[in-house]
Amino acid sequence: MSLCSLISSLAVTATLLYPVVHAQKCEKTKVAILGGGTTGITAAQALTNASIHDFIIVEYNADIGGRVAHTDFGKDIDGNPYTVELGANWVQGLGSAGGPENPIWTLAKKYNLTNTYSDYSSILTYNKDGYSNYSDLIDDYENGPYSEIEYGAGIILTENLLDQSFRAASSLAGWKPQTPEEQAVEWWEIDWEYSYPPEECSETYTVVNYNTTFYQFSEANNLVIDQRGFNAFIKGMASTFLHKNDSRLRLNTIVTNISYTDDSVSVFNHDGSCIEADYAISTFSLGVLQHDVITFDPPLPKWKKQGIANFAMGTYTKIFLQFNPEDVFWDKNTQFFLYADPTRRGYYTVWQSLDTEGFLPGSGIIFATVLNTESYRIEKMSDDETKKEALAVLKTMFPEVEKIPDPIAFMYPRWTETPWSYGSYSNWPVGVTLEMHQNLRANVSNLYFAGEATHPEYYGFLQGAYFEGKAAAEAIASCVKNNGCVGGPNYPVLHGTTEEKDLTSANGWTGRSLFSILA
Ligand SMILES: Cc1cc2nc3c(=O)[nH]c(=O)nc-3n(C[C@H](O)[C@H](O)[C@H](O)COP(=O)(O)OP(=O)(O)OC[C@H]3O[C@@H](n4cnc5c(N)ncnc54)[C@H](O)[C@@H]3O)c2cc1C
Ligand SMILES: *[C@@H]1O[C@H](CO)[C@@H](O)[C@H](O)[C@H]1NC(C)=O
Ligand SMILES: *[C@@H]1O[C@H](CO)[C@@H](O)[C@H](O)[C@H]1NC(C)=O
Ligand SMILES: *[C@@H]1O[C@H](CO)[C@@H](O)[C@H](O)[C@H]1NC(C)=O
Ligand SMILES: *[C@@H]1O[C@H](CO)[C@@H](O)[C@H](O)[C@H]1NC(C)=O
Ligand SMILES: *[C@@H]1O[C@H](CO)[C@@H](O)[C@H](O)[C@H]1NC(C)=O
Ligand SMILES: *[C@@H]1O[C@H](CO)[C@@H](O)[C@H](O)[C@H]1NC(C)=O
Ligand SMILES: *[C@@H]1O[C@H](CO)[C@@H](O)[C@H](O)[C@H]1NC(C)=O
Repeated sequence: MSLCSLISSLAVTATLLYPVVHAQKCEKTKVAILGGGTTGITAAQALTNASIHDFIIVEYNADIGGRVAHTDFGKDIDGNPYTVELGANWVQGLGSAGGPENPIWTLAKKYNLTNTYSDYSSILTYNKDGYSNYSDLIDDYENGPYSEIEYGAGIILTENLLDQSFRAASSLAGWKPQTPEEQAVEWWEIDWEYSYPPEECSETYTVVNYNTTFYQFSEANNLVIDQRGFNAFIKGMASTFLHKNDSRLRLNTIVTNISYTDDSVSVFNHDGSCIEADYAISTFSLGVLQHDVITFDPPLPKWKKQGIANFAMGTYTKIFLQFNPEDVFWDKNTQFFLYADPTRRGYYTVWQSLDTEGFLPGSGIIFATVLNTESYRIEKMSDDETKKEALAVLKTMFPEVEKIPDPIAFMYPRWTETPWSYGSYSNWPVGVTLEMHQNLRANVSNLYFAGEATHPEYYGFLQGAYFEGKAAAEAIASCVKNNGCVGGPNYPVLHGTTEEKDLTSANGWTGRSLFSILA
């Protein structure tokens, strides 16, 4: 051991032995924004708009954007890599200027993001025997059972009835998928959007989520294929208030501990730095909060933990393959290819071509999407094992192709293992009440929580992240300006079903028996 490293290891030991961290002087700021994704950057812009410039953004990664993340993949004929999106890819529900417009669409236009209408009717269907036209099942589902489920959800909401699973609602509407083809269609309609199967989704809140995005805005989804990356809109927003090398943006900085009192929040980072703020906004994903990787002192109240534990974080995995452009064997005029595996629901069900006019023509790129349990399984496998499975599926779909060539590039992200996200986006499981969700959203003292998951209607979507970042920042701005908050009406803690009861008192069981409730 060199003298230098001996000294530094002694220094480490010394800090461990003498926990001076709490005595250490933390840098002071008005608002600490924890995370530089869509929510964090929107919050910072909203604070700036409210003339609050004294804030610090702490971000784990080397760049802003969060789950709007891209990477280089494969190469074009000149040898330059393509940019593909690992996370968010669509602006979902565009709306129109004048009518309600999705703010992400407003920003996509403002920052000139290259994008193309994603035509869900541009689809070819396959099963174990190759091409097989069962696309009429899609129309049957949408016009029949789905509209009945939608209508039923409206009744549940207006009559204040008990929620039920999307599966139960489907059965009641006469939709009981048995064949691989029916299951593939259902997967395309439900799982592919919500990242969970109908058994686990709430009927009511799933329909609310769909209606508020696709009926309030519009049914159009546009896929962003901008070679700067989708996060160009987040960088564009940031450029309106951050100057070059702005010291208010702390990249590569990992928050490990958060302690809070009635009037301040202290944020401790992995590098020993700390920030003492009057207010803080946690924009960590639900997955990060669920993984207990950040220690709260005092521990978060039970009602908050219940909200965190009950909401769900899904995983959506895109598996990218690039073939030699001359070898492309699928129909380049089609955007989607649906595969009904004979034995496994959700097995490489949706394939999406980028080598199609309006996307990345001539690229030879296609990608498959897997979700949930299939994502967990595939994340544990090596790239080679997954490539083998994917190629075998393509062979089944295209038996007429002499030999499916080897891809020249192959890649997929492992979202459930990504330590700054732990999953892709949130979903509303059956059994979660509006109250539990409000408590996921509610502030704890001056520590606020915002992110896609905290929006009761647009959860999962970029617009949810945007609206929540704006709402938290505006609530804090009103506190700052009024020299004290006026009730924080947007962030109530609800105590209907989450009243704290001590069920483990010294006398043992003190809860009521179910029979006494029924009596
Ligand atoms: C595969 C996938 C596909 C998706 N598809 C779409 C889509 O097509 N359309 C759509 O609208 N939405 C889509 N989404 C959802 C969308 O990406 C999210 O809703 C949105 O990006 C969430 O923004 P956020 O700011 O709330 O969270 P994030 O973007 O996760 O931001 C939180 C930030 O906190 C940082 N952070 C985490 N832990 C720490 C720590 N300990 N210390 C410091 N910083 C930390 C993270 O690095 C991150 O930058 C998709 C997401 C994924 C993953
Ligand atoms: C901040 O103000 C600008 C200019 O009025 C506006 O375009 C932008 O949408 C505002 N941002 C937020 C997050 O409210
Ligand atoms: C977007 O494109 C328009 C027209 O080409 C141009 O006028 C504008 O400056 C561009 N804006 C940005 C932010 O690049
Ligand atoms: C599949 O069948 C439907 C009718 O059931 C038809 O409208 C459609 O054109 C067919 N698709 C193809 C690609 O042949
Ligand atoms: C969703 O929209 C449909 C169609 O407009 C409507 O019938 C239904 O009541 C709505 N449901 C909810 C929960 O908003
Ligand atoms: C910003 O930081 C980079 C790297 O530290 C440095 O090279 C550059 O000169 C700085 N730019 C400004 C405007 O300060
Ligand atoms: C952070 O939390 C860990 C785990 O609970 C604890 O051991 C450590 O002392 C805390 N550090 C600070 C700075 O509070
Ligand atoms: C949330 O903030 C409001 C406004 O400051 C405050 O009145 C309320 O007590 C806070 N909620 C909790 C649970 O700390």
